[in-house]
Amino acid sequence: MNVGIIGSGGREHALCLKIKDSSLVKNIYCFPGNAGTSLIAKNIEIDIDNFKEIKKKALEKNITLLIVGPEKQLVNGIVDFFKNTNIKIFGPNKTASQLEGSKIFTKKLCKKYNIPTSKFEIFKNKDEAIKYLDNSTYPIVIKADGLASGKGVYICKSNDEAKDAVSEIFDGKFGKASCVLVEEFLNGEEMSYFIISDGKEYKSFQTAQDHKRVGEGDTGPNTGGMGSYSPSRLNNKNLEAKINKKIIEPTLAGLKKLNTEYVGFLYVGLMISNNEPYLIEFNVRMGDPECQTILPLLKSDLGEIILSCCNQSLSSQKIEWLYKKSLCIVLCSDGYPGEYKKKVIIKNTDNLNLQDGQYLIHAGTKYIDKDLYSYGGRVLNIVVTSNTFENSRKKALEILDKINWVNGFYRKDIGYNVINK
Ligand code: AMP
Ligand code: GLY
Repeated sequence: MNVGIIGSGGREHALCLKIKDSSLVKNIYCFPGNAGTSLIAKNIEIDIDNFKEIKKKALEKNITLLIVGPEKQLVNGIVDFFKNTNIKIFGPNKTASQLEGSKIFTKKLCKKYNIPTSKFEIFKNKDEAIKYLDNSTYPIVIKADGLASGKGVYICKSNDEAKDAVSEIFDGKFGKASCVLVEEFLNGEEMSYFIISDGKEYKSFQTAQDHKRVGEGDTGPNTGGMGSYSPSRLNNKNLEAKINKKIIEPTLAGLKKLNTEYVGFLYVGLMISNNEPYLIEFNVRMGDPECQTILPLLKSDLGEIILSCCNQSLSSQKIEWLYKKSLCIVLCSDGYPGEYKKKVIIKNTDNLNLQDGQYLIHAGTKYIDKDLYSYGGRVLNIVVTSNTFENSRKKALEILDKINWVNGFYRKDIGYNVINK
């Protein structure tokens, strides 16, 4: 079959690399992809918010399966748009995508089905929120509803910080805001847990941990993700059973009560406290850069797995993994997550002599003629799998040293909590 992958980041290049190895896949098209995907697939320059254009191109290229990388198009109903066509599409529909699209939708679902999460209050105006904050204990967490590319969350240490956060949200920093969410601060260690679902069955799809802050030691502003590692050190059979029973199953059952079902990857952001899971957030897609660390560990055929989800036959599908330690370091443009220059040349990527288990995964890149240029904040992902996280990080740093991009930066401490302990 011909497959289309929607998106242009590291996650989509990682999907493309894995799908390329599928026995079912003939040609891959990326909408619009990046320099990395252009080496193994055909990139189609297109506005991915224009679903009609995607459909036109998909029909023209005889694409029978579309895989959606980012959340925005899912939340805006791309899966519903393709529902009565001959093109299969992998991802949740608009109703189910509210799990990421609206934090309030998810919090209400948690309340209704007793899913463990932090206590919360919703405020429709600034004065009410501020009155509540004057009588709260700190730290406290303030969140904008809706999509904010991971940036609409404030961990506030004081009443002043919390008031500023509420003002910024109501002043429209993340688009028009009709409410804010005020949450209890959860203590513990984070873990990202992934599942894949066909609407009837679900299977676990690895664990990972990302580093969201820009600076070493997890300091400074939040980013899309500066690096990640898989698997998480926290996972164990007992914890996994609790996550499935207390969080995944009631959520999927809750969606069924809304007359819908969940098809796709589900990213479950958790706080683990004394081997007990608490839900922080759902994302209705793979994580970026978590995907770049998870997929190199997958031994089974990703094309078959995804197709089985579209055909509701996941239960008979085997999903097998390599028992290796995978680690990703993201090379970013100087200035990210603030202002950064675009279209800066990147040399030295052609002769890296990558070995088995070493990957150069592109994010914001384009080729102009034969030269590679940066086109985004997160530019390249160096991923290494080996027998230890320490070794994986060492190798990734050696590769970054060879690339030696003077216009960019990266964190040298990715995975410190699994390496230094
Ligand atoms: P989110 O976009 O909801 O994942 O939040 C971004 C980050 O903020 C999470 O990865 C956590 O590190 C942190 N966070 C969010 N909610 C809480 C909470 N209730 N308690 C502690 N940390 C939180
Ligand atoms: N790495 C965080 C995310 O994909 O949302």
